[in-house]
Amino acid sequence: MKKLFLLIGFLLCSTPLVFGQYTDYNLVKEVQVKNKGVVVSAFPLASEVGAKILRQGGNAFDASIATQFALAVVYPQAGNIGGGGFMVATTEEGKKFTIDFRETAPLKSHKDMYLDAERNANTDLSQYGSLAAGVPGAVAGLFEMHQYAKLPMTQLIQPAIDLAEKGYAITQAQADLFNTYKDDFLRLNKHSIPFVKNLAWQADDILVQQDLAHTLKQIQQKGLKGFYRGKTANLIVKEMKRGNGIISLADLRQYKVKVRAALIFDYKGHEVVTMPLPSSGGILLAQMLQMTNLMGLEDKQLNSPEAVQPMVEAERRAYADRAEYMGDPDFIKDQTQKLISKSYLKQRFANYNPDKATPSSAVGDIIIPQKEKKETTHISVLDKEGNAVSVTTTLNGNFGSKVMVSGAGFLLNNEMDDFSVKPGVPNMYGAIGGKANAIAPKKRMLSSMTPTILLKDNQPFMVVGTPGGTTIPTSVFQVIVDIIDFGTDVNTAVNAPKFHQQWLPEYILVEEDFPHYTIKTLEKKGYTFKKTAKIGRTEVILVDKDGKYHAVADGRGDDSVGVE
Ligand code: DON
Repeated sequence: MKKLFLLIGFLLCSTPLVFGQYTDYNLVKEVQVKNKGVVVSAFPLASEVGAKILRQGGNAFDASIATQFALAVVYPQAGNIGGGGFMVATTEEGKKFTIDFRETAPLKSHKDMYLDAERNANTDLSQYGSLAAGVPGAVAGLFEMHQYAKLPMTQLIQPAIDLAEKGYAITQAQADLFNTYKDDFLRLNKHSIPFVKNLAWQADDILVQQDLAHTLKQIQQKGLKGFYRGKTANLIVKEMKRGNGIISLADLRQYKVKVRAALIFDYKGHEVVTMPLPSSGGILLAQMLQMTNLMGLEDKQLNSPEAVQPMVEAERRAYADRAEYMGDPDFIKDQTQKLISKSYLKQRFANYNPDKATPSSAVGDIIIPQKEKKETTHISVLDKEGNAVSVTTTLNGNFGSKVMVSGAGFLLNNEMDDFSVKPGVPNMYGAIGGKANAIAPKKRMLSSMTPTILLKDNQPFMVVGTPGGTTIPTSVFQVIVDIIDFGTDVNTAVNAPKFHQQWLPEYILVEEDFPHYTIKTLEKKGYTFKKTAKIGRTEVILVDKDGKYHAVADGRGDDSVGVE
């Protein structure tokens, strides 16, 4: 089965091009190439758009922007203009920085907005419908990125417009998703939307999105104002009125991205450049890598009990800290430096016991169940000049709030659920929090997204990231450890069965094909396990000793590599 992932250029659809519709594209899982840029994303047509932009003379920023606009069309479950995300970049001149285009809580939001009269949390409201939406940051993020790009924005948006107007052939996975969410779409939209039709969707059906094409043209012609002002902004506010949402014209006008210093730390001679708060991802990654480093993993085997146990215990402790200390640094005391310091982590890991599981209650409080329904998307890009861009964007759940802005053709996120709607009440990823991540107007909700770049001798070594909600940091952690400590090749690291522990719930989540021997051995030490279909969809570019780029798109989905 694993051999499948080694196939280069595996043919997905072979229907000929009809009336300019995009029906003919390849799923490319793995590429090794020298002196050419590469783009890895969740969908072949989007990766191909990014690759085309590189061929037209664009750099990694151009390619990321064009790929993201394209994903908003061909990967509507997570690609978006109505959501937000984070970008980490390192440039050929040695600049390292991040762009935070996370959604913000609307001005009319307040701490208890999802509590009923008895102060019970109503997570239906934080997950479905207009009230679940944060103020979108995606378009502002793409314009902020554009100052590092080479080609005009109009050129970078055009491929997305073409895809929306002419239509493209959906995959089996997308047909299944549209069918699964049909009832939600009907319940939460009063107007008809392109993802709903009478008959069930099938692979190769054509999806055309005229309203979305129109909105993209507004952005193409008017820039940021094409989204945050004028017609599109009015349509968003109209949609809010229809669905009892609270995003206002003032919210849209005031939305601002934040350029933040990257969180940077050393891991075994690699400079890890990653996302700081308001994503917990970078801190968790630094904590987990440094805690396991106290044990030494080099002599252990991938997914063996000896490796998994300390990694799980590092995950448990890091996620307990997430719940307690992490939130938007513009609203809380930022404790990052303490949390990633060697002395703190040494003390945090001091009660690790190789003979038995540490109960979660020993590293924090409160016990909770977990729910899930999720979708996010990651892009890794490396151009031939050595500019690296790692960007993760999301609507949060699959298709976000499920609300499409009538007349504008794009979905609104349900990112408000990433706040702690009430202390101790789990969000859709089972993550809990308290004060640090409570709702407040203009505050950014805590994220787990972990777009990351590793440098070695100041040159790109790895570009990595993944969707997966709270499983994001643990997946990135595992890929890095697999490659650096266990010495696996990049394809094995991406497609190896993943595991995840997030303090609460207490169990270890594992993929179906996770080694039985490891489960049985750790069960004897008091660990419990729960199986899940898939964890993560990691997109990795690794640079080998000869400067060759080795790009791998995760085998778990329609993810695909595009080459310049
Ligand atoms: O920001 C976060 O951590 C979540 N909203 C990300 C959601 C996600 O990754 C869904 N992916 N499958």
